[in-house]
Formats: sequence, structure tokens, C-alpha cells
Amino acid sequence: IITKKVDSLLNIMTLEEKVGQMNQYNGFWEVTGPAPEGGSAEEKYEHLRSGLVGSMLTVRGVEQVRAVQKIVVEETRLGIPLIIGFDVIHGYKTLSPIPLAESASWDMEAIQKSAEVAAKEAAASGINWTFAPMVDISRDARWGRVMEGGGEDPYLGSKIAVARVKGFQGEDLSDPLTIAATAKHFAGYGFAEAGREYNKADIGSVTLHNMVLPPFKAAKEAGVRTFMNGFNEINGVPVTGSEYLLRDILKEEWGFEGFVISDYASIEEMATHGYVKNERMAAKKAAEAGVDMDMESYAYVNELADLVRDGEVDEAVIDDAVGRILRVKFELGLFDDPYKYLDEQREKEIVGSSEIREAVLDMAKKSIVLLKNERNLLPLKKSGQKIALIGALANDKNSPLGSWRIASEDHTAVSVLEGMQQYEGNELVFEKGADLVTGQVTFINELTFNETDKSGFDAAISAAEDADVVVMVLGEHGFQSGEGRSRTNLDLPGVQQELLEKVFEVNKNVVLVLNNGRPLAIGWAAENIPAIVEAWHLGTETGNAVAQVLYGDYNPSGKLPMTFPRNIGQTPIYYNHGNTGRPVDPQPGDNMVFWSHYMDVENTPLYPFGFGLSYTTFEYDNLQLNKNSYKRNEPVEVSVQVTNTGEYDGKEVVQLYIRDLYGSIIRPVKELKGFELTELQKGETKTVNFVLSEKELGFYNAQGEYVIEPGEFEVFVGGNSMETLKASFVLEEE
Ligand code: IFM
Repeated sequence: IITKKVDSLLNIMTLEEKVGQMNQYNGFWEVTGPAPEGGSAEEKYEHLRSGLVGSMLTVRGVEQVRAVQKIVVEETRLGIPLIIGFDVIHGYKTLSPIPLAESASWDMEAIQKSAEVAAKEAAASGINWTFAPMVDISRDARWGRVMEGGGEDPYLGSKIAVARVKGFQGEDLSDPLTIAATAKHFAGYGFAEAGREYNKADIGSVTLHNMVLPPFKAAKEAGVRTFMNGFNEINGVPVTGSEYLLRDILKEEWGFEGFVISDYASIEEMATHGYVKNERMAAKKAAEAGVDMDMESYAYVNELADLVRDGEVDEAVIDDAVGRILRVKFELGLFDDPYKYLDEQREKEIVGSSEIREAVLDMAKKSIVLLKNERNLLPLKKSGQKIALIGALANDKNSPLGSWRIASEDHTAVSVLEGMQQYEGNELVFEKGADLVTGQVTFINELTFNETDKSGFDAAISAAEDADVVVMVLGEHGFQSGEGRSRTNLDLPGVQQELLEKVFEVNKNVVLVLNNGRPLAIGWAAENIPAIVEAWHLGTETGNAVAQVLYGDYNPSGKLPMTFPRNIGQTPIYYNHGNTGRPVDPQPGDNMVFWSHYMDVENTPLYPFGFGLSYTTFEYDNLQLNKNSYKRNEPVEVSVQVTNTGEYDGKEVVQLYIRDLYGSIIRPVKELKGFELTELQKGETKTVNFVLSEKELGFYNAQGEYVIEPGEFEVFVGGNSMETLKASFVLEEE
């Protein structure tokens, strides 16, 4: 039915009206990028009135959205409603943890719920389309946008992509509390060379097909309605103009029926890249490659109709793009009622409601990763203790909201100090020690850090001297990761490292609570500080989540979705690498240089992918396969026993990896192929079962074909990617 409706609408549209549907403007254009010259508000309003705009982004709130929707519905010839896009990245006004943190939960139900409540809050504010999930795999912690993704692994990343798409879109896109999702940034953006934002991605086709594309494909299969292309180039072609990616793979091979939006001004930036001469060529390349909607480049609205009239672009290209856009608008129910997302009463009831706060708190607790806990310093005793809480971030209500939070109000997070104050049995003293940031803190300006002012050190040190336990909240500011926030240094910024060391000199009972949007190189802390809690940027409910974990009211179960390096020089570091022809000889003291290694630091990471502790302990035993040789279609049944051997009930992410020992292309030394979040009471043993099928045993060859090759495989199961039990099997020749 929708196809018929789309076709009959297309039939009555003029060329200009069609091109108008392919044009998206930013409502608040200072927010996500520079306004191209000539992009005045008056011109935008004029274009809205004349049917030259199909979508707006960053307009928010029922009142504002109604105002722009009313213009197109009432003043244009056909009254085709706008689709309203917004970066609902980790919540709308009420913020859940940054996506990298959510990924650390390995809890797909919780991640789906988090996306669902984010969609609900955004939809209640008039939004019907989010530019999320970002499903870019990334191995390079220098890149600021790792905070926005699912980490380094394509298997985990694919599961997360599906959970988030389902959460945003729900069962029924026309439900006014669900929104269309976007899989972005297609493709390779996460492989920005040297981690520098917007840089080229120098990746071969094996990496493209096996690492980069799988989460996109999973999102497509989960029904994601839109894709966004990246800013990067691959092989000398900006992905905005890549016919290979957009037409051949996405639209033809995968059969994607939704539409593709460019990234902000990425069409006109093809000229800056040096790929096209001017805006006209940029519009032609992008449209022909398969970009259906232009975000704020003005290239389509300025050039496309003329290109068609001059015979340079086939009108069928335009019809295909517009048909896709209209289809999504029909699916959202916008043609039944263009104002269906616009209900002031609903907005009041839903935005900031307790249901949403409870969901983000739940997600925040599940996102925390316990990295170290010597002498069982954690959980903290609930009474009779003097606790010194140190670090400017502990009393910060803004930074924990993280990056990408355009609709949220500043300073609305529960701080760690506020969270800990609720536990009244202990004496709590707060000292900031030193400011982290000096100067302005906004989404669009570069931050400056305090490198010199240590005037608060003495007070912090004396509070630490007097305390039974010191909790230090240190790390990155929430605006230190995200778009445009690449770093060449993964240390604690400013004077925080010095403060940490000085405090540790006077009190060895230090619990370090990290705030960060990327893996950090915290080698000194990992060696010296007895307890380390990875608390990322956890959003609105940060302080409550951290306090509940520190006091043991919630037993942490998060596992790292990205490897933590020993130092920046190891970056990019990731667990699913190839073996090389000369892997490091495992014998210690082997005085040889001709191995794949560094002279000054070992190859192993500080904390591996999949790593995370609990207040209890788990033991793995009895890894078994049902056979040791399989025919091609036979399922490989794997089982393992896991026992909770500690003093608390807890949850463990049981992880299964494989290694295909040799093949027509080299396979990684380990690849995640299954995981199970398992609850175990104190003393309980459970058998956890996995099944490996063809879907898990094959790979994409350099031509992008999925192949399964006979040979020897190893299976590893454990609580992280480095500490595993091992078994092996043979996949027989046919
Ligand atoms: O959605 C984002 C994208 O991820 C990066 N550039 C700006 C877009 C719109 O805000």
C-alpha cells in the first residue's frame, strides 16, 4: 500500500518539489557545524514556504517543531510533512550513559530499553528521527567519537546495533512514541588515520568486510530506516560519493529500502577533499552514488534540478531518492497526521519522567566496569568510616552528562558527591584538589585544562591523611570526547596525575573512579592504586549509580568493549589482530629482537577487551564440545561450567571466542562469536551453552563474499579475551 501511495504522490510532484524533499536544513546551525555561506535563516524560511525542504534537524520541542511543520503543511502546494531529525545519541533531555559505556554492560535488553526510553522522550518533544546508533567500529582511542560507538568488536557491535535500532524504532514506527533510527557513519569513519577526526580511513577490503560492515548489515537486517554516510574517504573516494558502498553494497546487495542522508555538509566537502571541482559536481556525484538527502550542504537544492534539466542526472535517480524518503514519512504516519508527534500535554508528562530516570539509572549501574579491587577495598563499609572524596569531577554536575547532549540542560547530572551524600553512615569530606578545566565549557568550543594551579592540593592531601578511604574521581571532562575531540595523549588531563600520586603518598586506600569517553592509558594507577572503577560518563543519574556500586548495593558486571593500552604508543591496540609471521615468543628473557614487539613495552594491553571484575569471583571449568570433528552444516555445541566462588551474588558475561587456524586469508588470533550474561548466586554453578553455526565460522574474503573453509579451529571461553579455557575441533572437507 505504501508503495502505491508513494508512487501516486511522486506522479504529481514537480522536479523542484522532489528535490526539495532531498534537502535538509539545520534549525540551530551553530550547533553541529559551521553554516555554509549564504545559509541565512531567512533563506531557510523562504525555502520551507516554497516546498524546498524535506527535513529539519535540531529543531526541538513541540512548540518549535509545530512552528516549522505548520509552514510546510499549510503554505506549500502539496503540504508534505517534514521529518524532524535530531542527535538522540544517549538520551534526549534525560541522559543515559554514553554509548561506549552502555556497550560495557553487554546487556542487550538494557541497551534496547535505554534506546526505547530515549526515543519516547525525544518523540514526546516532537522528534521523529534520530541520527543514531553510531555503529562505527573503532580501535583507536585517540579518536574522540569512540564514546559514541559499541567499541572495537564487530560481533558485539552488531548485537548492540540491533538492540539500539529495535529500541528506537519499536515494533511499529507509526507509534508516536517511537522514532526512525540511523545507522552511521557508512562507512569506515571509525578508522580515521592516527585517530584524527575527519581523517581518511586507510583500510583494505578484508577489514572493510569483516570489521567495518557487519554492524551496518546487522542494523539493516533489524530494519533500520536510514543510513548516514561518513565524512571520511576510503581509497581516494569520499564515502559520500561512493557508489560502491551506497549503491552496490547497501542498496543492491543488501536490499536496503530506506534512505541515506549525508553527514553535515559532507556533499559540498567533496570539493574540499579534492574529489570534485565544485558544488554542481558534488551534487551529481552524491546523488548518483546514492545519497538521498543532503544535510545542510545546499548542493541539492542549488544544483539538482538544473542537473536533471541539463541531462546530467537521470530523473530516475531523483525519483528513487524521493520515493525512499516519502516511504519513511508514510511509515512514521506523518501523512495521516503531520502533528502526531506534537502534543504539549504528552511532552509535559514524559520528558524527565520517573520512568525515564529509572531506566537511565539502571543502565548507568550496568555500564560500570570494576577494573581492580585489591584487598577487597570495595565495596565500602556503610558506617563508621571517614571518607575523603577528592577531584573536581566528583562535584561536577555537568561533565558526567558526557558529549552529545544538545537537548539536555547543563548541570543536571547527579554528581558523585550528591550520590555519596545519601549514604549517611559515614563521614564524608569533599576536596576538589584542583580544577580540571579552565575557561569556557560548551559543546562547540575547545576546552583548556588547568596545567598549573595546584593551590587546592594541600587541603586535598590533608583530607586524605585523615580519612580511612579516599575516593578520587578523575579523568576526562564530558566534552573531551565526541565529535572533533581527538587526543594524542591518553593520560589523565591537567594536574590530575600529580594529585593522584600525592594523595596516594599519604593514604594507600585509594579508590579511583574514572570518568572518560575513551580508553585511557592509566599504567601508573593500574600498578599502584588498589581499586579502580571505570565509570565513563554515565549521564543524568551518574552519582546515584556510582554511589550504589561503591557501597555494594549494586555488584558491577560490566566488561570493557575496547582494549585499554599501556601507553599511547600501542594505539591502535585490539584483541582480534592477526598473528604476524613472528609473534612474540612467549618465553620470558628471550634476548632476541626479531619478533613483532616493542623494545620498551610489552605487546599485551593494560586491560584486555572483555575485561571486568565483580565483587564476587567466577571460576570456569569443563569446557566441552559435543564432538571434535564436524560436517559443514553441523552445529558445534559448546558448554562450560561457571561457578560463583566468591562472597556475593553476581553476574558474569561468559564470552566465547574462536580462532580459525589457517585459511585463504589470515584469520584473527581470537574472534568473539558468542556471549551470555549469566546470573549466579553465591556458590552456584551453571552450565552455559553456546552453538556455533556457519554464521559464526565463516568470514568475508577480499571480494566481500562470505566463505566457510574447512580446517582446524580453536574455541576459547572465559571472562575476558585473554583468560580463557581452550578446546579445538576440525571442520571437515565436504
Ligand atoms: O549526526 C551528526 C553526525 O554524526 C556528525 N555531524 C553532524 C550530524 C548532525 O548533527
